[in-house]
Amino acid sequence: MANWTLTTKKLVADVMSADTWLPSEMPEYAQGFMYMLGSLTASSFVVVCISGALLAMNGPDSWVYNSALRFVDATHFWSAQAFFFFMMLHLWRVFFTGAWRGGRGRTWLLGAIAFLIAIPTAFTGFLINGDLYSEWNAVQAKDGLNALGLGWVNLTNSGQMFAMHVVILPLTLSAVIALHIIRVRLKSVVPPYPEVKSSNSKVEVK
Ligand code: HEM
Repeated sequence: MANWTLTTKKLVADVMSADTWLPSEMPEYAQGFMYMLGSLTASSFVVVCISGALLAMNGPDSWVYNSALRFVDATHFWSAQAFFFFMMLHLWRVFFTGAWRGGRGRTWLLGAIAFLIAIPTAFTGFLINGDLYSEWNAVQAKDGLNALGLGWVNLTNSGQMFAMHVVILPLTLSAVIALHIIRVRLKSVVPPYPEVKSSNSKVEVK
């Protein structure tokens, strides 16, 4: 019979181990730039969170009339662009190296869930800008969600969108990214596909 305490104990020991987080050797294939894209995504996310926390602490619209906060707002916007840019490149890398192989299916799934949560996290950010663009988006998207039976998500309610963008979605996203990275550390990075020897390899190309 499964012993939950023992299973949890082993998992916690693996996750907390120094070998998991500070490996002294790294496979050669994992040293290229393509394998840095996940870390660049995670680093951009850290900048998004710090700049976003500064904006939230000062309250809605503060970034419109305070020039220092306008800089923080621009940092928030561009780090979010970088986050999505690097995430797409990372997604291509993990797709083309078949990174779900070798028991990394859950790592893949957690990455995909993070991607899906990142979309409404960014979108709700556009809704709390308070300009005509965000109002237009809110009203159009509200009709769409109503049609889907999700009427309780009121995109024109800036308080609800503030809570979604600043608390609920970023915390959920942070948790999923943390689990994703924990699994990467536990399972390590996927080795390249084995080289395929072509049957025509002896044919001389002139
Ligand atoms: C939310 C954004 C994401 C962050 C912060 C992130 C972070 C990372 C990091 C730091 C690694 C280690 C290797 C590397 O840097 O390339 C990694 C590996 C991996 N990622 Fe992501 N990732 C994200 C999104 C995704 C998505 C969308 C997928 C696929 C649907 C995915 C699938 C994987 C898989 C399967 C691995 C493990 C195998 C390997 O690295 O070869 N990740 N991720």
